Amino acid sequence: MTYVLALDQGTTSSRAILFDASGQIVGVAQKELQQYFPNSGYVEHDPRAIWDDQVQVSRQVLKESRIPADSIAAIGLTNQRETTVLWDRRTGEPLANAIVWQDRRAAAFCAELTERGYADRIHAATGLLPDAYFSASKLRWLLDNIPNARSRADRGELAFGTIDSWLVYKLTGGAAHVTDVSNASRTLLFNIHTLQWDDEMLELFDIPRSLLPVVCPSSMVVGHSEAEIFGHPIPIGSMVGDQQAATFGQTCFETGMVKNTYGTGCFLLLNTGDIAVTSNNRMLTTIGWQMGPKSPVSYCLEGSIFMAGATVQWLRDGLGLFTRTEDIEPLAASVTSTDDLFLVPALTGLGAPYWDANARGLMIGMTRGTERAHIARAALESIALQVNDVLQAMSADSRQPITQLRVDGGASRNNLLMQMQADFSGLPVFRPKVTETTALGAAYLAGLACGVWPDLETVSSHWQLDRIFEPAWSEDRRQSHIERWQQAVERCQEWTT
Ligand code: G3P
Repeated sequence: MTYVLALDQGTTSSRAILFDASGQIVGVAQKELQQYFPNSGYVEHDPRAIWDDQVQVSRQVLKESRIPADSIAAIGLTNQRETTVLWDRRTGEPLANAIVWQDRRAAAFCAELTERGYADRIHAATGLLPDAYFSASKLRWLLDNIPNARSRADRGELAFGTIDSWLVYKLTGGAAHVTDVSNASRTLLFNIHTLQWDDEMLELFDIPRSLLPVVCPSSMVVGHSEAEIFGHPIPIGSMVGDQQAATFGQTCFETGMVKNTYGTGCFLLLNTGDIAVTSNNRMLTTIGWQMGPKSPVSYCLEGSIFMAGATVQWLRDGLGLFTRTEDIEPLAASVTSTDDLFLVPALTGLGAPYWDANARGLMIGMTRGTERAHIARAALESIALQVNDVLQAMSADSRQPITQLRVDGGASRNNLLMQMQADFSGLPVFRPKVTETTALGAAYLAGLACGVWPDLETVSSHWQLDRIFEPAWSEDRRQSHIERWQQAVERCQEWTT
């Protein structure tokens, strides 16, 4: 038997998932990742812990599944995107904690770029907006704030990478300093049309070229894991950002196919084929994947929502509304409506399509009759309503109508949330049997590079339906609910200055 080992390094956990040649899960191991919040708006991870955890869970899944390392045809690597690591090329030691995608410390600098009129040029080159979400301003911050970092970078002593680069550097014992097109397209430094690091962006963010990894296709052997890690060297057959990986794992290979992943945040991606569609509705244009050095890249439009599962986590840990994440579904289902209560979870500002870093969370419509259940239901609704905002904006950009939504990620198991999604969007919602599509996408890309699967058709044939959620609301009811939600969203905007 042949297996593919997917490493899925996410925001809140590091996972290793073993797939067999039919795309079925053979084993899973995972470890929670410690989060650091050293200042208001700061979010950090320890890169050493990320590496240690990833090795630990990988060894664990092989051991528990009793699969020897020499049966692993390939490692597929997928990762939380944008999170920025700076390390010493010689020792492989990070200079500081990684600055996580959610971190807002560089927001003022990004706002300044917009004020100085750079937004259009940035968007034209990178497909992104000048926002602290992406890597460039985080890297600039590290270079400006870590003693001697800038002079050491100028001498070529340091390396920058997103988590994919960092893990491949460690896996290969420092032999490969690489990234892939999908991760590069999230840095604000990569030109998504020429597929090169962009000189103008490097100058704007004051980033020395010597720091940058070599950009590779998403599906290609970029190196081998050092023999001592798993007892046998294994080819690393893919590197891919987690949202693009999920799109691939959902086999959204055709233009016009769209998926949404319900994780910490929500990320909706629409495949636009080999055309980099420019959004008029504040969607991002991003690279989905590239199948090999001679293949064209596949582009996507993306809507990124910052708070989805994190909203449920906040209700659980911050407010103590329930004890286990899964308690939210029965609690929310114990009432038939929110009784006109709306919760806008703009706890770290609002992402697509609003892009308001100064928005803050809001709950409106409370009465003496408001109970925990109404708040729980309003929180689930807020996830589906945010996704619907993005779907509407994306439909306006798309050349063809969106006719269905494929869903995945942890919260896609929540049937109430999926029914809300169908009702609010008026679209049928398709849930596959395997909802671990992020890891699956990375496994497919690696397996395709290493001969486990011959082509995309074979991979597509693995996709199996679990359930379709059909929209049940009338158009009038749908429109008036969305209007009410949008009134609440307007009220939470520009709250901080
Ligand atoms: O852009 C951020 C995204 O890649 C994070 O995904 O699943 O780790 O929350 P996740």
